[in-house]
Amino acid sequence: MHSSEQWPAPVGALAAHLADRGEQIAEVRQVSERRGSRAWKVATTGNAYALKANTEEDYEGRDQRAELKREEGVIAELGRLGAVPVGYLVGAGECESGRWLAVTWAPGGPMWHALSLARTDDTPYTRHLLLACARSMAAAAASMHRAGWVHADIQPTNTLVTRDGSATLIDYALACGPVADGLPDLETGRTPYRGALTHTTAPEIAAAVLGTVDTVHIAPTAAADVWALGASLFWCWTGHRPVPYQEPEGPREGKLRDIAEGHTLDFATVRPWPFPGFEEIVAGCLHPDPDKRPASADLITAIERAGR
Ligand SMILES: Nc1ncnc2c1ncn2[C@@H]1O[C@H](COP(=O)(O)OP(=O)(O)O)[C@@H](O)[C@H]1O
Ligand SMILES: [Mg+2]
Repeated sequence: MHSSEQWPAPVGALAAHLADRGEQIAEVRQVSERRGSRAWKVATTGNAYALKANTEEDYEGRDQRAELKREEGVIAELGRLGAVPVGYLVGAGECESGRWLAVTWAPGGPMWHALSLARTDDTPYTRHLLLACARSMAAAAASMHRAGWVHADIQPTNTLVTRDGSATLIDYALACGPVADGLPDLETGRTPYRGALTHTTAPEIAAAVLGTVDTVHIAPTAAADVWALGASLFWCWTGHRPVPYQEPEGPREGKLRDIAEGHTLDFATVRPWPFPGFEEIVAGCLHPDPDKRPASADLITAIERAGR
């Protein structure tokens, strides 16, 4: 909690923006600081916002200000396309310390914690929780895919899940859309995409990363989002990351080689309890051949069928 005199520059900038809308900040809490970006929960009397800003030191030479500016453009475009919830982008701009970006606060907690009961208990509630989480993740992905966009960083920390299993995808920093004349150019000068979190990287993306130099941009795909979605569900339900690594503590490159092989752990050896309908859905998402994975829209129907 900060008082207004001690607010960091991005919070001050959001406060001014909200004041123009007749809202006053009631509470500020920092929620993360990593990889050159900081985030806060900022609450007013009626609303809550997630505020993201760059740290003053650059991380691994990346230009976080430019990345936040791109993310603002991405969320604005996704909003225009109806691919993120209405009004998700609250504001963005420059401040003393760099750039800030505010979005609507999504309810729930990180997926790993939200699904913890499902890692031990087989109950009607945990079955519902897993299916509802899978369904809402698929629906969020499908609303982007329908518009020709991909999230490109689906992973447990970017998925917030409520007690009833309703999931929201956050973090549009790596999202990619169609590049064509007449569309906003968000890609000039961007950091090349080289996969996101290792454990949720699809085999074909892993192979492309291994087969190209660091400056080459690898276009993420909807099928790779589906793999990442399945990997997140596999991981948060079984407690195991889906690919068995030869060197679990080794470098990223070795893990990417294992992922590129296309093998995943057998559910029978890691599931906390049998849930055949759900296992089948997750296994389908983790198919090594991207063309054989379900499209996110079809995934919604398959999950609904599994819940009946
Ligand atoms: N819309 C949101 N609702 C709730 N919390 C959010 C939201 N957006 C971001 N956060 C919080 O801020 C953290 C960092 O945001 P994120 O967009 O994932 O950035 P990065 O991973 O680049 O640090 C998240 O892990 C989450 O705790
Ligand atoms: Mg994130």
